[in-house]
Amino acid sequence: MKIVRGIGELQLSGEIGLVPTMGALHDGHVALLRAARTENELVVASLFVNPAQFDEQADLAAYPRDEERDAAIAAAAGVDVLFAPSAEELYPAGFATWVDPGEAGGEGASRPGHFRGVATVCLKLFNIVRPRRAYFGQKDAQQAAVIRRLVRDLNLDVAIRVVPIVRDADGLALSSRNGRLSAEERAQALALPRALAEGASAADPVAATRAALNGLAPDYVELVEIGGATVLAAAVRVGSTRLIDNVLLKGELS
Ligand code: PAF
Repeated sequence: MKIVRGIGELQLSGEIGLVPTMGALHDGHVALLRAARTENELVVASLFVNPAQFDEQADLAAYPRDEERDAAIAAAAGVDVLFAPSAEELYPAGFATWVDPGEAGGEGASRPGHFRGVATVCLKLFNIVRPRRAYFGQKDAQQAAVIRRLVRDLNLDVAIRVVPIVRDADGLALSSRNGRLSAEERAQALALPRALAEGASAADPVAATRAALNGLAPDYVELVEIGGATVLAAAVRVGSTRLIDNVLLKGELS
């Protein structure tokens, strides 16, 4: 696997699958990388903690960074090129052009500016890497919806694949943020996947999820449309850690 830091050093050819990441890779990312590996001649993963999508500076500062570990995981999953640019490479002095992705549900409302940063960096990565396919996790349901809409609205020639959530044995969706939970908080956090599972089979999924959260205060519980599929999504805070999760209600993610 080649590690490339400069845009000018990326010399890519063939049918490319792109997996955009911010590092702190876990088995959820590995599922994206494996999906990309099965469908493409060349797999490119990006490793970039995008400052533009953090609405809280403390969250950016606390974001786990371990390039050596991430590179080993990416290489083992079959990545050909790891694109790991600096912030100056992607946002040079004078950078001033942003993508406004429009309405972005409860997640967008809870994190002002977040999806502007996500949409901007993803459009840049699509333009730099020119992938045939790009891979995103279902866990970030609103992000997947925003990226699908970006591709449709700006006529981008890239297929967006949405890969199902990977969960730990206790049901918690894998996230780089899970490592911040104490044992007690982790036990409390399990109310989130349980409430969503209960909501998914109820007549009123949103109300049933809210009622089953076992004291966790939600930022939102809502239905999110991703392509032809609908997911039931929620965000909660457990101590100082914000967790999101969702379950598929109808349709298919692909
Ligand atoms: O999901 C993420 O890790 C990030 O939002 C992404 C898509 C890599 C953009 O920075």
